[in-house]
Amino acid sequence: MNKLIEKALNEQISMEAQAHYLYLSIASFYEVQGMEGVATFFYDQSAEEQMHMMKIFRYINEMDGHAIVPAVPKPNAEFEDILSTFKLVYEHEKRVTLSINNIVELSTKEKDHGTYNFLQWYVQEQREEESLMRTIIDKIKLIGIGPQSMYFIDREIKEINALKNQTPQ
Ligand code: FEO
Repeated sequence: MNKLIEKALNEQISMEAQAHYLYLSIASFYEVQGMEGVATFFYDQSAEEQMHMMKIFRYINEMDGHAIVPAVPKPNAEFEDILSTFKLVYEHEKRVTLSINNIVELSTKEKDHGTYNFLQWYVQEQREEESLMRTIIDKIKLIGIGPQSMYFIDREIKEINALKNQTPQ
């Protein structure tokens, strides 16, 4: 496997692992506050990130490279209000998108068509994740973030969870 691509994909493993841990921490924070819908949403997101990480992990070894288990910094255990939390997640997803796009570009430059193809799934996934986060942020802005709003926000997120479960991944 091309060494530059291998290095970039190993760095991507680390980003996906960080997202996996961050979303797990967010899920836990909201679960202890009784925000069942938000907690479920982030447990699901966290599991998806682990799957994103593992797909790259297995791909590297399949291509005769060496996938490396990354050190993951401990994420915050406490988060600000719900709007700031989703904005934080949106910013993280934008960084992931940028990173994926950079590896797509690198695969073109290095004429690694296999990796280029492999990454197309991630390009689409990032488009969907960013769009979902924007939708949720817009909904939260409409509802407002006062203490009375938390029930309605949680209910909205529960509906999104139900819709996501109906859609094949
Ligand atoms: Fe796998 Fe949401 O980045």
